[in-house]
Amino acid sequence: MIYLVAGARPNFMKIAPVVKKLDKAGLLYKIIHTGQHYDADMSGSFFRDLDLPVPHIYLGVGSGTHAQQTGKVMMAFEEICFESKPSLVIVVGDVNSTVACALVSAKLGIPVAHVEAGLRSFDRSMPEEINRLLTDQIADLLFTTCEDADGNLRHEGIPDDKIYFVGNVMIDTLYNHLKMAEESEILKRLGFEEDGRVKDYALLTLHRPSNVDEQIKLENLLNVLNQVHQNIPVLFPAHPRTMKQIKKFDLIHLVRYIEDISSERSWVSGKNILMVPPLGYIDFLSLMSKAKLVLTDSGGIQEETTILGIPCLTLRENTERPITLREGTNRLVGSDPELILEETSRILGDRASEKKMPKYWDGKAAERIVDVLIGYLKK
Ligand code: UD1
Repeated sequence: MIYLVAGARPNFMKIAPVVKKLDKAGLLYKIIHTGQHYDADMSGSFFRDLDLPVPHIYLGVGSGTHAQQTGKVMMAFEEICFESKPSLVIVVGDVNSTVACALVSAKLGIPVAHVEAGLRSFDRSMPEEINRLLTDQIADLLFTTCEDADGNLRHEGIPDDKIYFVGNVMIDTLYNHLKMAEESEILKRLGFEEDGRVKDYALLTLHRPSNVDEQIKLENLLNVLNQVHQNIPVLFPAHPRTMKQIKKFDLIHLVRYIEDISSERSWVSGKNILMVPPLGYIDFLSLMSKAKLVLTDSGGIQEETTILGIPCLTLRENTERPITLREGTNRLVGSDPELILEETSRILGDRASEKKMPKYWDGKAAERIVDVLIGYLKK
């Protein structure tokens, strides 16, 4: 029995294609949802959109400090491993649930497979960087998305026979859902598409602690994004963490917050960016694929925009995904107002970017992973 761990929003897109291929190969598995993300629009809607089965086991750990959250996942996960020891545990990405379950498994002598291994921002102030470094040190099978990641792992002393360059499962999911995204009504509902014509708009996401946990940083960013909004309407589906910070710092006057998007169409002319609750996978993919520009501090969105050929400005000083800078449509702009405005104007003046495909971002990553797992489990 394989345990497949998912806890937070970006994990769900990564497990989806693996689940399909495990099913196809007839391998027995259980989905373990740690409950790190628990809101309907951070979790449940993704299981529906991605056609994932209801998790077999729900640990329900919820929010907390890093130590509390990681500790709670470890205790709950250890207990289920005691009840029934899996033959292998698959963890994905770099969230607290990833490192927590990898650590428990390694100590119980259960082999760990890490999907999306080897990415490094070389910035240890990022909680995800710590999670990535630790998970990779104790994993037995390391599945990578690019050759940079293989190099990083070798540099950290991971032997070659543990590293498998298989491609990008998040992109498998993107390809699997593009047709559904084309059929989404979200652009029409928001007034971005009328009489078959798509208007120009920018899509924004923001949730990294380094951008939203300090009042002055968040305030400055919202101010510059409001300036961008003067040139192109900016739609901002906000992570609950960001929403909470905006309220806490009393910055709500810097956004126009609409809770029920089905009733709103006239917002484009408003003076501030439009903040809406988090969107589901299909609607977000639809918006991303037709956007003139994406502004984000997310990791996965840097990869998705590369494949979609949509210009992406990353509101961070570094990235663990440099391949999207070299081979894709991504640019790092940090939080420098001048650079953000300059790059936005450049993109608005440009023709559309080309679609790019880094090696093995071809929709077949999960298939390669399951092939390796079959060989490994036979040994
Ligand atoms: C986590 C991941 C991050 C990932 C992000 C995607 C870690 C260290 N971070 O960050 O890598 O990019 O998910 O979303 O694991 N909250 C809710 N409802 C929810 C979930 C969270 O209200 O369903 C609020 C809580 O107030 C919580 C805060 O958001 O304290 C942060 O959630 P948490 O899971 O700790 O980290 P994220 O910022 O979501």
